[in-house]
Amino acid sequence: MDFRQIAEIYSAYERTTLSTEIHPNDVMFNTGSSHYYTVGKSGMQAILTGLSLTWRSQVSRVLDLPCGHGRVARHLRAAFPLAEMFFSDIDHEGADFCAREFAGKAVHSAPDLTKVSLPSDLDVIWIGSLFTHLDKGRTIDWLTYLSGHLSEHGILVTTFHGYFSEKHTAFGGGADEELLRRQFHFTGFGYTPYKTYNDITDYGVSLSKPSTILDIADSIPGMRASYMERGWANNHDVLVLCKNDRLASF
Ligand SMILES: C[S@@+](CC[C@H](N)C(=O)[O-])C[C@H]1O[C@@H](n2cnc3c(N)ncnc32)[C@H](O)[C@@H]1O
Repeated sequence: MDFRQIAEIYSAYERTTLSTEIHPNDVMFNTGSSHYYTVGKSGMQAILTGLSLTWRSQVSRVLDLPCGHGRVARHLRAAFPLAEMFFSDIDHEGADFCAREFAGKAVHSAPDLTKVSLPSDLDVIWIGSLFTHLDKGRTIDWLTYLSGHLSEHGILVTTFHGYFSEKHTAFGGGADEELLRRQFHFTGFGYTPYKTYNDITDYGVSLSKPSTILDIADSIPGMRASYMERGWANNHDVLVLCKNDRLASF
């Protein structure tokens, strides 16, 4: 997508009145209104940056997974007013809320994402802070599975805890942060489960070096990868996987 098209999307977004409907169970809103809207908008900006790296000229189908209760979803709806949108989360109430509020379809997720029937032919898949909570095996398997749901030149934009998070973020939830950081330094990928919140699935905190994530991206056939350190809200790293073979001829 060229800069002129991206500028048009962004100008239209800025002229749109954003939904301020907040679900009472939206835990992301606990950080305060200003932070909530800044982080949401930054997710949309990371997607526009991702699109600028591709040959895709239109965005017609978008999946937000995990959508939570719409921190980023409301900005995606404003940026892509005509797109067919899908909202998915293991928290079905969140997915249903987003589908209702932001005019889309809910896809109820499950502990094993590879067992969830996802829409195909997606031009954009936004994955804000899911792999930041998963081990390396699921990161590889789920990225591969999701990549199979992209349209040609479609993009998957997803976030990771990189060097900045390793240095500055306190994760809580009973995660063994010392072990996590040791794994990060010695292997390039750390994961420890939360002691709380693990009633439905194996859920915790991951830390990953850019080189490890790019190695994972390298192992997924038919894709090309770009990486932005601190690309989401000046905090999480961002991987963009574009469905266009890195070895495809001109
Ligand atoms: C840190 S929140 C991020 C939510 C949203 N992307 C945002 O930025 O506000 C992580 C989300 O992952 C969801 N989640 C965890 N496991 C999941 C799974 N297997 N499938 C879909 N969503 C999942 C949780 O319910 C939660 O809403």
